[in-house]
Amino acid sequence: MRTSEIRRRFLDYFAENGHRVVPAGSLVPGNDPTLLFTNAGMNQFKDVFLGSDKRDYSRATTAQRCVRAGGKHNDLENVGYTARHHTFFEMLGNFSFGDYFKEEAIGFAWNFLTKELGLPAEKLWVTVYKDDDEAADIWVNKIGVPADRLSRLGDKDNFWMMGDTGPCGPCSEIFYDHGEDVPGGPPGSPDDDLDRYIEIWNLVFMQFDTQEDGIRKPLPKPSVDTGMGLERLAAILQDVHSNYEIDLFQALIKAAMRETGCTDIENRSLRVIADHIRSSAFLIADGVIPSNEGRGYVLRRIIRRAIRHGYKLGCEGLFFNKLVSDLVNEMGEAYPELAEQAAHVQKVLIIEEEQFARTLANGMAILEDGIESLEGKVIPGELVFKLYDTYGFPADLTADVAREKGLEIDQQGFEASMAAQRERAKANSKFTLDRDIDLNLEGETEFLGYESLIGSGEVAKLLKAGETVSELSSGDEGLVILDKTPFYAESGGQSGDIGRLSAEGVELEVVDCTKLQGHHLHRVKVVSGTVAVGAVLDATVARDERLNTARHHSATHLMHAALRKVLGTHVQQRGSLVAFDKLRFDFSHLEAVTREELKQVELLVNQQIQSNSPVVTELMDIDSAREAGAMALFGEKYDENVRVLSMGTDGFSKELCGGTHVSATGDIGVFRIQSESGIAAGVRRIEAVVGPYAIADIHAQDQSVFNVQSMLKCSADQVAEKVTQTLAHTKELEKQIEQLKAKLASSAASDLTSSAMEINGVKVLAARLDGVDAKSLRTTMDQMKDKLGSAIVVLAAVNDDKVQLAAGVTKDQISVIKAGDLVKEVGAKMGAKGGGKPDMAMAGGGDVQKLAEALDYAVAFVKETLA
Ligand code: ALA
Repeated sequence: MRTSEIRRRFLDYFAENGHRVVPAGSLVPGNDPTLLFTNAGMNQFKDVFLGSDKRDYSRATTAQRCVRAGGKHNDLENVGYTARHHTFFEMLGNFSFGDYFKEEAIGFAWNFLTKELGLPAEKLWVTVYKDDDEAADIWVNKIGVPADRLSRLGDKDNFWMMGDTGPCGPCSEIFYDHGEDVPGGPPGSPDDDLDRYIEIWNLVFMQFDTQEDGIRKPLPKPSVDTGMGLERLAAILQDVHSNYEIDLFQALIKAAMRETGCTDIENRSLRVIADHIRSSAFLIADGVIPSNEGRGYVLRRIIRRAIRHGYKLGCEGLFFNKLVSDLVNEMGEAYPELAEQAAHVQKVLIIEEEQFARTLANGMAILEDGIESLEGKVIPGELVFKLYDTYGFPADLTADVAREKGLEIDQQGFEASMAAQRERAKANSKFTLDRDIDLNLEGETEFLGYESLIGSGEVAKLLKAGETVSELSSGDEGLVILDKTPFYAESGGQSGDIGRLSAEGVELEVVDCTKLQGHHLHRVKVVSGTVAVGAVLDATVARDERLNTARHHSATHLMHAALRKVLGTHVQQRGSLVAFDKLRFDFSHLEAVTREELKQVELLVNQQIQSNSPVVTELMDIDSAREAGAMALFGEKYDENVRVLSMGTDGFSKELCGGTHVSATGDIGVFRIQSESGIAAGVRRIEAVVGPYAIADIHAQDQSVFNVQSMLKCSADQVAEKVTQTLAHTKELEKQIEQLKAKLASSAASDLTSSAMEINGVKVLAARLDGVDAKSLRTTMDQMKDKLGSAIVVLAAVNDDKVQLAAGVTKDQISVIKAGDLVKEVGAKMGAKGGGKPDMAMAGGGDVQKLAEALDYAVAFVKETLA
């Protein structure tokens, strides 16, 4: 049975048993700071288990792509060396949210394996948590598993936790026996980690929520979370003993053989490459880019590990990226998003492969330097660590090089540096949330501002300098919480509203509005009067600012859609700021956006504005929104019910968004891009303005063109031509000046020639020239030497009080005195420094007041030397 069919049969089976088939979540978990990558099917349901999120179904089933590399569940180093570990795999799961519990969960699993798939019961082995008598009883007495094929194991094997905190519970696992000819023992035996008994399905009986202090709080309702490895199941059904022998992996391994030239299909490096192309490609398709921190860093390590294994196989050029198309052939049908992003994925891999090649070359140079200055035969651990940490040069490669040169590496020193680094990283990376102040206030602020800019609300709480107060009076600054308000609180990149709160005799200016624990915090200055808790205030949002903010927000959506049309669907929002006077949008894209592309984006957005189509807001549940194709943001977590904003013609833009928008695109007025720049590897930023701010920007540009026009005395369309002419003219003038200077120098040279004195048949001259630059000074010197025949000359040029000295000696005299020595000797008299060749030398600097004296000295010195 092909892998794709197994996936389908599983989902169908649970759908028939009352489970909702829910689409898989992204590998980048929604706004869960405790989790690096999606590592289990239950991740997207974490809050449902905890009771803080509700769904309209209590049974669900998914096929979830997972990455286990980095974080609590990390299999990276095992990959390639066992038959069953992967960085990327698919987990088939069924879930009960307070619906069924142990008995049904066990029944479903057993039924699916033995009846649906027809696996022989005697090939299966089960485990339960050490004191879970209930589960053991179900297995033995209700299902009929022989008691000697059941093991009771402890916390390590049979208590499943998502992370250090969060939902967890005892679990029961089902193993498959691959038969006597595969080494290994049953679960709980000393060699149970070999490949004979393979865990295929884990049934977790979710009962607790582990807190930060380690305390396990019971969940609101006992629930079920299960996970079965699709690749492991495929191995069984395809009658092979290793996941790497299943259809899907064989195709990838053959592709790796083709690209690396390796002909030994059993080579472990091929498995590593086949595994790593899956995690790398899916991570990139889900929006991760290789970098030096967080998720990007783990991705970089996976890619580099694959490349290293390619090198091990003797591969020299770029190869890893070429496997993308093979992966798309295998998995593109089940994952259309992968097929769609293939070109982008390949591009990211090419860049990373090229960069790694450079890293290796740099590291090698540093390592060779280190080896050259080595005393003894041991490469210090600190150097190995520095290469690894600063230059990304892998430690095992340093060890390889050391081995080749008959050296060793100080492994202990290296590990000590690594341990110190881990400590530092741990201290820095604790994903803790800003807990701010605890408002200790029930409920949430009701937001009236989608429909209206005015409203009234009762004061529920007042704060001053972070402390709760009973009133605020004239001159005070503080925070006001109302039970309902039209003020938008900053979120999703959109700034908070400003405006006024007032009542009889009281007036407050609202300078910002933010959100905390579901409440809108109006940051206020009390202009007059006193406001107390319980008072009812009229709230008025500043109209122009709100309208302009809405214009910028709607334009952001249109621009996001236009960017995806012009640049490709790999474009994903990475950050956004929407204010009343500007918008800023950060997105994933590998290279600078060209002027032509920016123009196309600007045109597309303006066309949509001109279409003046209505902006439609719909409330729906998250699954329907996703099905309707609404764009959700990278790493964002959404509530079960969401707002979907559609705008533009023919479904131009559809996004999940809680912000405030214009009612028709025409309200935006006009859209204008101001700048495009790179802010991090693979992330670009566009700044733009709309409406009155775009008009102001156009006017400002227009004014500067007008200013240039008036200076050039031409019309706007002649500016470019005029400037071109002016620049050409300037160049011509510069050329003429050069020629004139040369002429001047030459005539100065002839004048000077006559003033040279003759000593013992040698012409000697020391003279000052003004307004001559260093270049002309050299030319003059050359000409004088030519004219004088046998000569020793010192010339000085003074420009802006700076002295440039030149000494020239004709070839026949350099045995008498060298120009370099002469210029040093003379320069020393005035503090100028320099040197040069025996026939020509220059010096500069020094005290211009002492120049005359220095030149006199030059003549005296030469005279003496010649005498
Ligand atoms: N969440 C459970 C696991 O990952 C099913 O093993």
